[in-house]
Amino acid sequence: MMSGDQEQRVMLLTGASRGIGHATVKLFQSRGWRVLTVSRQPFDERCAWPAARMAHIQADLADIGKIDELAAEVRRRLPNGKLHALVNNAGISPKGPDRSRLGVAQSDAAVWTQVLNVNLVSTSLLVRALLPELEAGQGSIVNVTSIAGVRVHPFAGVAYACSKAALAALTREFAHEFGGRGIRANAIAPGEIDTSILSPGTDELVRQEVPMGRLGDPMEVAETIHFLCSPASSYVNGTEIHINGGQHV
Ligand SMILES: NC(=O)c1ccc[n+]([C@@H]2O[C@H](COP(=O)([O-])OP(=O)(O)OC[C@H]3O[C@@H](n4cnc5c(N)ncnc54)[C@H](OP(=O)(O)O)[C@@H]3O)[C@@H](O)[C@H]2O)c1
Repeated sequence: MMSGDQEQRVMLLTGASRGIGHATVKLFQSRGWRVLTVSRQPFDERCAWPAARMAHIQADLADIGKIDELAAEVRRRLPNGKLHALVNNAGISPKGPDRSRLGVAQSDAAVWTQVLNVNLVSTSLLVRALLPELEAGQGSIVNVTSIAGVRVHPFAGVAYACSKAALAALTREFAHEFGGRGIRANAIAPGEIDTSILSPGTDELVRQEVPMGRLGDPMEVAETIHFLCSPASSYVNGTEIHINGGQHV
């Protein structure tokens, strides 16, 4: 519990170990949230946040047969059955040899299955499994899409782009289906953010395509996620916010 009668808000964040997810954990933590995290790697001993060990759940979202098991573990860790935010951030963008782009011709069934399961299907199944907790917390769902979901991107592969376009559609479906139950759902679509997912050549792309002429910082993305999980966005539902320095124009 926080000071006074204020209940501590709880967020579940997938893909917390690096990049945008890691910045989001730090920001929410600094604003008094309790954060539960999910990623494939175990807890990283270098982590400076003392509560992180207890808050981390090791799971592979590609394994869609085990999502209910993951949700059960999350449920066990919720103090009073309420989930106030679910941020679906984990994502993969596989590359070919020499980090080449996986176009249609280079993407076999295994690539499609892996990318769609991690970036899309696991999100729907996790929300489905945690609906009672999200409803109890009048929670906010934030799906992390991408600029690659709305335009062809020189580095993101076809399966990745399609998974992110579909995740934007899934966000609208969530908003439509669960709005009446007090659960909001929105997406954020980053452009070129300074993380390990970026490919060589991004600097040139930024120079040519981003009006603001620089990469985004993961903390700038985290701030928008925080806005969407706060009362400041209480009537925002079913939208996708571009965080890209104007790249989409
Ligand atoms: N960086 C950008 O410029 C950019 C642009 C547009 C969209 N995005 C999107 O933003 C999100 C975060 O990107 P990022 O750049 O921060 O990525 P990142 O640095 O590659 O981090 C990805 C995170 O997802 C986790 N993850 C990957 N596969 C997983 C799986 N199968 N099961 C569970 N967790 C898994 C990783 O942890 P483990 O390795 O421990 O599993 C890691 O914590 C992604 O959805 C990405 O598509 C990023």
